[in-house]
Amino acid sequence: MTGVPELRIGIVGYGTMGRAHSYGYRVAPNVASLPLRPVVKVISGRDEAGVAAAAATYGAEGWTTNWRDLVDRADVDLVDICTPPGTHAEIAEAAAAAGKAVLSEKPLGTSYAQAHAAWAAVSKAGVRNAIGFNYRRIPAVALMRRMIDDGAIGEVRLWRATWLSDEFTDPATPFDWRFDRAMGGTTIADLGSHLIDMALWMVGPIDEVTAQSETFIRSRPSADGDRAVTIDDASSALVRFAGGARGTFEMARLAVRRPCDFSIEVNGTSGTLVFDYPRMNELLYGDGGDAPGLYGMRTIRAEHPSHPYAPLAWPIGQGIGYGETFVNQAVDLVTAWPNGSWTPSFADGLAVQAVCDAMERSAGERRWVSISEITSDPGLKAEMPLGTAG
Ligand SMILES: NC(=O)c1ccc[n+]([C@@H]2O[C@H](COP(=O)([O-])OP(=O)(O)OC[C@H]3O[C@@H](n4cnc5c(N)ncnc54)[C@H](O)[C@@H]3O)[C@@H](O)[C@H]2O)c1
Repeated sequence: MTGVPELRIGIVGYGTMGRAHSYGYRVAPNVASLPLRPVVKVISGRDEAGVAAAAATYGAEGWTTNWRDLVDRADVDLVDICTPPGTHAEIAEAAAAAGKAVLSEKPLGTSYAQAHAAWAAVSKAGVRNAIGFNYRRIPAVALMRRMIDDGAIGEVRLWRATWLSDEFTDPATPFDWRFDRAMGGTTIADLGSHLIDMALWMVGPIDEVTAQSETFIRSRPSADGDRAVTIDDASSALVRFAGGARGTFEMARLAVRRPCDFSIEVNGTSGTLVFDYPRMNELLYGDGGDAPGLYGMRTIRAEHPSHPYAPLAWPIGQGIGYGETFVNQAVDLVTAWPNGSWTPSFADGLAVQAVCDAMERSAGERRWVSISEITSDPGLKAEMPLGTAG
């Protein structure tokens, strides 16, 4: 891409997501003709040796142990936040104040108040903003949404979403930020934010929720002895959509032998669509208009040239993996620079956070909670009680 101008990126955090986002920027020019060449100018992390090694491995031009230096650098156009949720709002606010575009990993914050502050900062500064709901960029998921919009299942009646992981199953897993309410948020938001985003994107706004949460393993070993776990490790919820549909969600990090299994299903008046992450190149479609002899679901291979993201994909039959969601994200963001729209944006992240907070409050208070109760109170306290008492 000689002669193509650069989109200069600073990535905050060099863990799993720092690696995934770097990968996306490196591969994007390989799969699409881009107006700009994404270049990771600098990556930050707290550990000097760790961040230096990550910069070399990921192909970043430089590194720093101070994220504020990264935000202030004149040669950074986009600040890409890949740190734990409790840090997102503060970094986004600083980036917005410096006039930088911002991409934040999900969830936008650990509370509606935090997410609101991040959204208000980018809105006030008028900077471009996006949130890393990368699963929207799986071709089969994008196709599912397109088919709903095109009326393939009629009017949506039921939504069903589960996310099952086993990352918290072993009581010997040491305490880290993921077990800390102030830094990690909740399992509702960690896993559920993706599911809630897909629900809002496909079905529309949610009015009201009722939820339950539990923390089965209440303490974890740490260098300073056992520490109390302050988040839920499994939650579930019923929801009412504004358009009349009803839905369910379940998110659990204690599901043995479930590595990262999410599944979403929509039932409409004339059809059903099912996406199952372990089979990420397929979409199941039950069409109520089929001849009775064809009763059942057909498997759509979401790799056809007519399907979303097909121009970025390998030839039909080769499929995609997790990495492509970050490649597709990078292509979408770079292609829309500087004037096209960036979706999903912080506004989407804020809408998702409102539902997460409503679920958390509902679980804590054992009652239905309307989303407007959360959104009408941007001064919401950062830490709310979890539904672990009963
Ligand atoms: N979209 C996805 O598929 C996906 C997947 C995993 C994680 N995430 C999100 O990405 C974000 C980062 O997750 P990760 O898995 O990359 O985390 P990680 O633990 O692998 O890396 C975290 C990075 O943040 C830095 N950091 C800065 N302040 C920190 C603090 N106070 N405590 C701990 N680390 C701190 C660490 O040095 C490290 O570089 C989270 O918001 C998480 O929810 C998204």
